[in-house]
Amino acid sequence: MKVESVDPTVDRGTVDADDARHGVRASAAEALIEMVDVTKTYGQGTSAFEALRGVSFTVGQGEFVAITGPSGSGKSTMMNILGCLDTPSSGSYLFSGVPVERLSRNQRALLRRHYFGFVFQGFNLLARTSAVENVELPLLYRGVSGKARRQAADEALDLVGLREWATHTPAELSGGQQQRVAIARALVTDPQVLLADEPTGNLDTQRGKEIMDIITALNVERGITVLIVTHEPDIAARAGRIIHFVDGRVANDSRKEPVH
Ligand SMILES: Nc1ncnc2c1ncn2[C@@H]1O[C@H](COP(=O)(O)OP(=O)(O)OP(=O)(O)O)[C@@H](O)[C@H]1O
Ligand SMILES: [Mg+2]
Repeated sequence: MKVESVDPTVDRGTVDADDARHGVRASAAEALIEMVDVTKTYGQGTSAFEALRGVSFTVGQGEFVAITGPSGSGKSTMMNILGCLDTPSSGSYLFSGVPVERLSRNQRALLRRHYFGFVFQGFNLLARTSAVENVELPLLYRGVSGKARRQAADEALDLVGLREWATHTPAELSGGQQQRVAIARALVTDPQVLLADEPTGNLDTQRGKEIMDIITALNVERGITVLIVTHEPDIAARAGRIIHFVDGRVANDSRKEPVH
């Protein structure tokens, strides 16, 4: 097993924005993410439930993928596996060619911290902690010094238009602002992959559009690979590809022109 091949210091190369937009880099040879016949069973015996039933797909660097499907179809289960928060019951997940399920828990945590940014529906912000400290957290886990942490967090908050709200706690922020703090926290580590599970689920249309504009810009301008779970057609429309889940399987996987 070669963990060295996911060394975060290795140059990731650049992704041409135009290519990224059209998802043309998604050839198997360049696959950043490769799911091979992945299953996930929760529970045991008579109460066992197969949430994923043999899912295979590859995602190239710089792709913008929407994951859609009915409630309970396995979308969040797949996101947890993608983000190395969970492992498949069978099958394989290769990230940059590394089989994630063969890594130790610690190695998986390292992979997660260095390569992934997460935006989940519940925000998961610390309630009594200021916006800027919430954004700093992933850097704290990485052992980045206080001064460098604050600078990076300020820049990330700037990017989502919240610099002047840095010292406010989540309770003092609107839902949309909280979601932007969550995005800043996901970005502060300069992740290669952004995973977002219904990031606009709690927001009104205008706030949701603002969040999606930020996420789209990250994909188009910075070449960050984006996988986003959504129930909303206009959000899925922004992606260059839609993977549709039904009953723990990929029912449809299609590429298209994104609408920005
Ligand atoms: N920790 C768990 N233990 C047992 N069953 C689980 C667990 N997590 C998810 N499930 C089950 O697995 C199935 C898939 O759940 P998942 O959360 O992946 O669905 P989803 O597609 O994200 O749905 P939604 O759109 O409602 O968020 C569901 O039937 C769910 O009840
Ligand atoms: Mg879900």
